[in-house]
Amino acid sequence: MEWNQKKILILGANGGIGSAIARQLSQQSAIIYGTYRRMKPKDAIWNQNHLYDLDFELNLNEIQSKIKDILSSNDIDMVIIAAGSAYFGNFSKMDTKDIQHTYQVDLIAPIIIAQSVLQFFLEKGEGHLHIVAAIAGLLPAVKNMAVYTSSKFGLVGFVRALAMETIGTQVRVSVSCPSGVITELPENALGDKEAFLKVIEVLKKNFESADDVAKGILEGLSSRDVLNLPTEKARALAKKL
Ligand SMILES: NC(=O)c1ccc[n+]([C@@H]2O[C@H](COP(=O)([O-])OP(=O)(O)OC[C@H]3O[C@@H](n4cnc5c(N)ncnc54)[C@H](OP(=O)(O)O)[C@@H]3O)[C@@H](O)[C@H]2O)c1
Repeated sequence: MEWNQKKILILGANGGIGSAIARQLSQQSAIIYGTYRRMKPKDAIWNQNHLYDLDFELNLNEIQSKIKDILSSNDIDMVIIAAGSAYFGNFSKMDTKDIQHTYQVDLIAPIIIAQSVLQFFLEKGEGHLHIVAAIAGLLPAVKNMAVYTSSKFGLVGFVRALAMETIGTQVRVSVSCPSGVITELPENALGDKEAFLKVIEVLKKNFESADDVAKGILEGLSSRDVLNLPTEKARALAKKL
């Protein structure tokens, strides 16, 4: 795909996957815009005026209003949602507020954002929305992550169904399902972080770099596929379905 001068908004710009996507797009002369929650990215690739704070835990109307402002004030061509958080812990002991939080950040906020993005792109006549889900959205990958896993199933199902509503338009939607990626996701996780880090320690020999995954995601954006398995490892796991 030709990225030169394309205006691309990356949600989760300072995350492991989001920042790797941003670096690669910037190297290919895209004009990148980003959202962050806790810390504004400081890397030289960023024009600080292109960064916006956006917490997925905000009131849903507030999220939509912020997104609409960012899209229209910058005439964005593509949106990549690469924000999310993990919860690790036994479901039977999970607090209701953690269930609600996980669904809000990993499913409901992305869907609410997708609605604003779709409305904007349909009005504009073209555009591409991409959501980074996870291989866990195709097959349960790790025990004690039922709510996180089901939120990713929800995202994959949502984008695949939504794609049917874009047929006959110049608007595209797609979703990617990376397998394990080396990022700070486990350190940022909620729940029993210590137990999660122990599980990750065992699994991590099969994890891939965020740069490799970002490369696969960006290559997938050039294809017409709605579902993107960004690396060979993700493709091999998906065959187990
Ligand atoms: N790492 C993996 O193994 C893996 C595998 C497959 C899929 N994924 C998915 O890829 C996405 C990115 O994960 P990552 O590995 O890059 O993790 P990460 O390094 O922890 O990055 C997470 C990103 O999400 C943002 N975020 C977290 N909570 C948020 C909230 N309430 N509101 C707005 N933004 C929020 C973070 O912003 P702040 O830093 O500002 O909080 C950060 O930019 C997630 O959806 C994850 O489920 C990850």
